[in-house]
Amino acid sequence: MSIIINDFEKMNITKIKKAKNNKKLTVITAYDALFAKLFEEMADMILVGDSLNMSFAGKPDTLSATLDQMIYHTNAVCTGAPKAFVILDMPFGTYINKDDALSNAVKVYQQTNAAAIKVEGGADRADIIEHLTSNSVAVMGHIGLMPQYVRSEGGYKVRGKTQEDAEQLIKDAIAVEKAGAFAIVVEGVKSNVAKQITDAVSIPIIGIGAGNVTDGQVLVWSDMLGFFESFKPKFVRHYLDGAELVKNAVNQYRNDVQDTSFPSKDEEY
Ligand code: KIV
Repeated sequence: MSIIINDFEKMNITKIKKAKNNKKLTVITAYDALFAKLFEEMADMILVGDSLNMSFAGKPDTLSATLDQMIYHTNAVCTGAPKAFVILDMPFGTYINKDDALSNAVKVYQQTNAAAIKVEGGADRADIIEHLTSNSVAVMGHIGLMPQYVRSEGGYKVRGKTQEDAEQLIKDAIAVEKAGAFAIVVEGVKSNVAKQITDAVSIPIIGIGAGNVTDGQVLVWSDMLGFFESFKPKFVRHYLDGAELVKNAVNQYRNDVQDTSFPSKDEEY
């Protein structure tokens, strides 16, 4: 049994920025109060990712997630983990132009306690990020493999395989930093390129499928705890065999119901 070292410190964007070159940041997703409470003092940030549309709602990709859905789950997470730095992932179509982005971000701040929002996009979306940050919205960027582009790109493609793409990704990171983001998720990028991106900016780079060279890591909770069985990306490490444990436990419950050993005398009124 490992010992839990609790050095939890409530985060804000100043502390997150200062962590660069000082401390590796641990980020995990959560979608509900129950798990958010378990993660609260373990993670530096909790991301209410639109990945919930796949792992929680069973959809094939993230694109059909709605802002109301994200707000509902963020409220649950903020209730379960009131001390956590919670980030709401803006779903597809909610930040296609500056005005929509700002009015939807204001809605998030009015209806949840999220500390920040996350948007996908690099230099192409820098003007939108700049509009948000200059209007006091805390923004986390997301570049590299961007799941919201899956239909327009024709699949999930690892980025940074060519010199040209590597240069584009570095430009994206610099543009997003310049637009005022406090951190950037870099997903599905060759690790040598992730290293160049990390070195090119002064805000923390949070990697997922980008090697151990970034300023921190993010994983989707249902992937890392082994609950999501549809597929396992190469970069995911299972820290628990959640699906197997749950299935065994429920099977045991079923057996106990069938042989009437549940409930026992001690479990009745
Ligand atoms: O939606 C999500 O969970 C994410 C992470 C993969 C970074 O964006």
